[in-house]
Formats: sequence, C-alpha cells, structure tokens
Amino acid sequence: MYGDLRLKSRYLLSPLAGFTNLPFRRIVHEIGGMGLGTTDLVNARSLLERRQKAFDLIATHPDDSPFSVQIFGNDPSRMRDAAQFLEEYGVDSIDINMGCPVERITKTGGGSAMMCDTNETVRLVKSVVDAVRLPVTVKMRLGWDATQITAPRFAREFEQVGVAAIAIHGRTREQGFTGTVDRSGIRQVVEAVERIPVIGNGDILTVADADRMFHETGCDGISIGRGALANPWIFRQLVQWELTGSFDPPSNFDDRLALLLRQFGYLCELHPERRAVVMFRKMGHWYLKGMRVRPHLRHQFQISRTIPEFESAITAIQTAGPHGASRTDQLPDLHVPVPSGPVERW
Ligand SMILES: Cc1cc2nc3c(=O)[nH]c(=O)nc-3n(C[C@H](O)[C@H](O)[C@H](O)COP(=O)(O)O)c2cc1C
Repeated sequence: MYGDLRLKSRYLLSPLAGFTNLPFRRIVHEIGGMGLGTTDLVNARSLLERRQKAFDLIATHPDDSPFSVQIFGNDPSRMRDAAQFLEEYGVDSIDINMGCPVERITKTGGGSAMMCDTNETVRLVKSVVDAVRLPVTVKMRLGWDATQITAPRFAREFEQVGVAAIAIHGRTREQGFTGTVDRSGIRQVVEAVERIPVIGNGDILTVADADRMFHETGCDGISIGRGALANPWIFRQLVQWELTGSFDPPSNFDDRLALLLRQFGYLCELHPERRAVVMFRKMGHWYLKGMRVRPHLRHQFQISRTIPEFESAITAIQTAGPHGASRTDQLPDLHVPVPSGPVERW
C-alpha cells in the first residue's frame, strides 16, 4: 500500500528518463506483474508553465494505471503547486526525485543535491505532502558520497512529515552507476522507518537478485529500472515466483519483436508517425542489440525515416532472425549502458 493506494504488486518500475514513457509502461502493464509505473522525472517549473514537454512526459492512458509522476525542483512553493496540479490532472501518486546525480539537475539544488541540506529538504517534502491528498513518495540515493550517508535520517524524517513510501537506490551520488549496490545501506533505511514501505532499488536483473534484495535488506518492495528494459517480463516472473516458486522462462526473438512493434504502435498513438519512427530509434537500438540482430540490419532500422522504411527494416530483421541462435531460443539479458566517467561531467 502507498497510503490509501493499493498497488497491484510489490514490484515497481523505476524511472529511466527517455525510456519509461507511456508506450513502455503500457506494454509492461499488459505483460503483467508491475505494481506501479513512474514517469521520467518532470521539472516542476515546466509543469507549471504548461510546457508541451512536461505534458508529453505525464501523458497517460487507462491501461497505465496506477501511475506515479516523478517531479524535481528545489523551490518548495513550485513543487507544492506542481503537486496540486498533478492531483487535479488525475495521477495516482507523486514521487519526489532526490536521487538524480546529473549535474544539470543537481546544480539547481534538485535531485541528489537535496540530500545535502536536511532542513530545507524536509520542509520542501512536507509542503508537497500537506498540499495534496495523494500519496507522496521520495526516491533517493544513500547520500551524496560515502562520508555523507544521509538516507536513513531523511527516511525517518520523511515518515514523520507524512511520506507514504521511500524508494532507495543503494549507491551514493558520487558512485554514479559504478560499483555494486550496497544492500546493507538499504537495510539501514529499512530499519530507520517505523511503518512506511521501503522499496529497494539497484542492479536487479533476475528473480534471484530480487530474492537477495528482500533477504538482505528486509525491504517491502522492489523497483527495477534497467532490468525491466532488458527483460520487460521480469515483473510477471517475480509475481509467478512469489505465488508458485517457479516462473516462465525469458522471452525469445519472436516475442520480443512482437513487443517492439506493439510499443511502436502505442508511440504512434501519441505522435505523428514520421516523428515516432525517429523517436523510437533509441529504444529500438537497445531492443535489437539484445535480440542479436546483425549490425547491418540494425543500421537499416536506425536510418529509417518513414513508415515504409521502418516496415521494410522490420521485415528484413524478422526474416533473418537472430544472429547465431534460433528464433525460439531464450535471449540473453540485454546489457543496458549507463553514463560513465565522473558524474560531474554527465
Ligand atoms: C538512463 C537512465 C535514466 C534514469 N532516469 C531516472 C529518472 O528520471 N528518475 C530517477 O529517479 N531515476 C532515474 N534513473 C535511476 C533509476 O531509476 C534507478 O534508480 C537506477 O538505474 C538503479 O536501478 P536499476 O539498476 O534497476 O536500473 C535513471 C537511470 C538510467 C540508467
């Protein structure tokens, strides 16, 4: 439960800017098992200024239920007003981003920079909680760096001001995506709160990873980002595992191609087709790599600009099948690249 909101499962989709958009959330909901999807982070100011980009990010559909919108910003009154706007718009839950390590976000005092100033941050979160009836959650990292592990203290204070749940990525801002997730750090957050659910996050690619997260941290739920892109069936697998102890194998080439086309179809419901073809390149690239599509066919897909070009690239991919494997084989998990190098330069 997130406050009064009953989730369909305790397996949640973690926001991945540029990927966890409405078409992706729809296909994951259709596959089943996902308790709640969250939008990419949305700038509170851009919402209040009614920017088209903000409206694109909060677009939803009856199949996308329940859904949460993640907002960021460091101005309490703007964050409060944005939350009230979202409540009227009809979202189910509001998530405050305190984890984003990217300089563009932190230099404005938003994202993980909020983990440095306790009093201001708790005041901001309280002003959002007090302004709406919806559940308000916070997503954070363990702290700014290893010398400032502030997440447990924040979690306790957030619970006291009425936050409904905490999602915690078990890395510091300084770590970016390097190293491994510190599950003992997540455990400290679990132990710091009295009642509210704590959602463990980071590096979950398989059911075994989720099992370890539950056991080692005592968390109430799990959120999955890159692992869901690599395997959108993971939520269903987790629910099957929870109910029966076993779960369906991962998808094969044909399943994934069908999924890709369905997702593209949902994108075309939102944007003119030619624009959708270009917008889908990034997502398509990752899918096709994981599907072991030969480079020249991936290239043909990447340069298509029109629907007929897109369709002929897909037909060629479908005909060729996966390189070096059978189309009914299970596919290996897709490697999802992350920003690298010092976080200051992302
Ligand atoms: C490309 C990319 C975009 C991300 N965008 C967001 C975002 O908009 N908001 C957020 O809170 N976290 C964002 N994250 C962090 C993820 O939600 C998640 O906390 C992190 O990737 C660790 O979980 P995972 O190992 O399951 O991916 C992003 C991560 C990646 C790789």
